[in-house]
Parts: sequence; structure tokens; C-alpha cells
Amino acid sequence: MAKSAQININGKTVDLPVLEGTEGPDVIDVGKLTAEGVFTLDPGFVSTASCESRITYIDGDKGILLYRGYPIEELAAESNHLESCYLLLEGELPTQQQNDEFVSSIKSHLNIDASTSNLYNGFQQSAHPMAIMCSSTAALAGVYHDDLDIDDPDQRKLVAHRLIAKIPTLAAMTYKHSQGEEFIAPDPDLSYAENFLHMTFGKAGAEPNVSPTIAKAMDKIFLLHADHEQNASTSTVRMAGSTGANPYACIAAGIAALWGPAHGGANEAVLSMLAQIGDASRIGEYIDKAKDPDDPFRIMGFGHRVYKNFDPRAKVMQETCHAVLAELGVDDPLLEMAQQLEKIALEDEYFVKRKLYPNVDFYSGIILKAIGIPTSMFTVIFTLGRTPGWIAHWDEMLSAPYKIGRPRQLYLGEKRRSFVALADR
Ligand code: SDX
Repeated sequence: MAKSAQININGKTVDLPVLEGTEGPDVIDVGKLTAEGVFTLDPGFVSTASCESRITYIDGDKGILLYRGYPIEELAAESNHLESCYLLLEGELPTQQQNDEFVSSIKSHLNIDASTSNLYNGFQQSAHPMAIMCSSTAALAGVYHDDLDIDDPDQRKLVAHRLIAKIPTLAAMTYKHSQGEEFIAPDPDLSYAENFLHMTFGKAGAEPNVSPTIAKAMDKIFLLHADHEQNASTSTVRMAGSTGANPYACIAAGIAALWGPAHGGANEAVLSMLAQIGDASRIGEYIDKAKDPDDPFRIMGFGHRVYKNFDPRAKVMQETCHAVLAELGVDDPLLEMAQQLEKIALEDEYFVKRKLYPNVDFYSGIILKAIGIPTSMFTVIFTLGRTPGWIAHWDEMLSAPYKIGRPRQLYLGEKRRSFVALADR
């Protein structure tokens, strides 16, 4: 028998369907409440499922993250970023032939057209890299627009391949612009992460010279960031996509949402926070600031809307952090300070009671700093990793009937009143 929930509205009992997922909480379908003259209210969507999806599953209490059913720990250990991109887009791990065809397609789309490259001349050298990424990604909508048919699954797949291929090139160009250096052309003979690092840190005319250790760590960082269910930036991409907007513009909207320090901008904010704390002896002072309800200071890289246990990505990131710093022979006092901060926070009642644990951003910044990525580029790296997730959700939404996203509100403004002429005010 189908499950249902009853709600009493002004004395009338209304039956609402309860839907079960393959994993996770049941959901109550409240669609018919408008007909009963009421809306639901859920600022921040804490208790609201916005859609059905088959891509990623998170169990926040158990610290579980699955890409199409595969645990993130196993993918981080056994897979690579492009294979995980295929998995997120197609729903299954690729055969060798499927993988080869996918990689070949990505390699065929690495280049950026001249009109988009020329856009970079309009940015100050000091422009924040995320501002450039928002703009240059949106500019792709100007290039790929006239013959775009988003109702054609093959064209949607082409959009996905183009974005997965071109975002790293735009990211590397963004870094080069910030350094006042010449752009380095993509090299299809290199792996995905090697090519990004070559375009970013390579010198014009020089042969690629990328550390395998760093390339492996970079690829793992991309993979760990590839998707995360209906987070703020993915929900932004879905909302923009629900209007039928150009998908490159939808991804640019996702990049804008990711930029915020409460979301993808947290990795940059962690390093700024550690620099602000300055010395391990001051950790207690800042823990107290974080606990003070009147102080806006937060421990960046801590807490999560869904995880009320360890973020499984943070655990993998911490292990990768130790391995990369050891292999590079980097003894970064910030890592030591971060570990002390984590230990103190995890033993503090305030954090324990609120189930605040390190999230994916807590350690990623320390690895990126060790690799030589400047802090201002950290969220660009997150953008690069998250692009396959964003476009997989966009494609999933457009693969079935969908409605334009149009929330309602609880109106607390003025009741109807008549206009007052200026002379009478
Ligand atoms: C990402 O959604 C996703 O999946 C995002 C992401 C992804 O992969 O897409 O996982 C990536 O965005 C990770 C999160 C990165 N952000 C940060 O690290 C910024 C620091 N964290 C906080 O801003 C906060 O934890 C959020 C924004 C992440 C979550 O905020 P919520 O769910 O709205 O929780 P809340 O603000 O209501 O906090 C609940 C309580 C509050 O205290 P009380 O009012 O109950 O007394 O916990 C406190 C908060 O003040 N709290 C913190 C804290 N985070 C929450 N206190 C100190 N330091 C913190 N970091």
C-alpha cells in the first residue's frame, strides 16, 4: 500500500503521498498543498528535496558519499577523474573502449576559441580568478549558441564533453593572466591533470615537465570535488537550466554560486583563517571567537549542512595532504596548525554538540598551497573538479520532463494601499 502523510489544514485532513528512494529519507510530495491554499516554508531548504536524482547519494550521519553507488573512498583509491566524469554522466563505469572513446573526445575539445581568449585582455591582472572564470565560461555561451539544441541528448553530451575539456584550459589561462605570462596551449598527449598543470605552470616553448606525484594528487582533488548532490551551486545550475537557458551560462551561474566562502570559497578562506590565527598558541582564542554567537568568525572548513559526521572527502584529503607534503619534502607549519585546530575543535563541546567536523575544504587548501597553487585560485580548482557534477545534473534534469523552478514566499509586506501624490507626502 502506498505510504502517505496526513496534515490537518484549517480542520481539513489532507493526504499527501510519501515517496521512498533507493537510499535515504522518504519524501513527502507537497505539490498539491497550493490547491489547499497553503505553501510550505523552508529557508535554506534544510528539509526540502528539490528533485529526484540518480547521480550522487550522501548519508550525512554515516559520512557516506556515493557517485552512482560507488563509495568515494574506493573511487579515490582505484579510479581517476575522467573515469569518474564518465561514471557521473553515463551512470556506469566505462569499459576500456568506452573510456578510450571518452578520453579521446575530451582531448578533442581542449582548445579555446580566439574570441574567448581575447576576453582575457579586458581583465585587470589583479582580477579575482573566479570573476574571470564566471565571465569566460559564460562567454562560451556566445560561441556555442546558434545551433544548440538542448533537447537533443547527443548535443547535451557534446556540451558536457566541451565543458569538461575547456574549463581546465580557461582555469590555466586565468592563472597565466594573473601572472602576466603567455598562455600555454593544451597538450593532448598529457593526462587530464598533467595537461592542466602544464598549461598552468609550464613555460612557453618549454617541454612539459610535470611531477607525477603532483599530477596524481591534482587528479584526486578533482575527483573528490566532482559532485555532491543538490548543493548550492548544483541547485543554481538546475534552477538556471530549468528556464531552458544556454548550458554554458548555467555553468557560469554555478561558478558564481560556488565562489561564496560558505560554499566553494571556503578552501581559500581556510588559508586566510590560518594566516589570521598566525600561531598555534592563538588557536584557543579563535575557537572562542567561533563559539561566540555575537562574533561572525567561523572555523572555515568546518561544519556542513548534510554531514553530521566526518566528510569522507576530508579523510581522503587529509591522507593525501600528508603524502604530498612528505613526497615534496614540504614541512608546512600551516598543516601542523590545522591538525592542532582540528584536534582542539573535535574535543570541544560546542563543536561536538553541533556535530561540526572538518569538511572537504579543510585540508584541500594546504595541498594546493604545497603544489604551488595561489590561494586565489583554490576555488577555481574546485570549479574544475565540480564541472562534471554540475553538467551531469543539468543533463539528468533535461533528460526527463521538468518544470521551471519558481518558489513562492511568505509575504510580510504592506497590504494594498493607494498611491500618495508627492505634494501630499
Ligand atoms: C562546501 O552543500 C554541500 O554539499 C557543499 C559542499 C560541496 O561539495 O558542494 O560540501 C562544499 O560548501 C563545504 C562547506 C564549506 N563551508 C565552510 O567550511 C564554511 C564554514 N562552515 C559554515 O559556514 C557552515 O557550517 C555551513 C555553511 C557549511 C553549513 O551551515 P548550516 O548548515 O546552515 O548550519 P548553521 O549555520 O545553521 O550552523 C548550525 C550551528 C550554528 O550554531 P547555533 O546557532 O546552533 O548556536 O553550528 C554553528 C552555527 O553557528 N556553526 C559553526 C560553524 N558551522 C556551523 N560554528 C563555528 N564554525 C563553523 N564553521
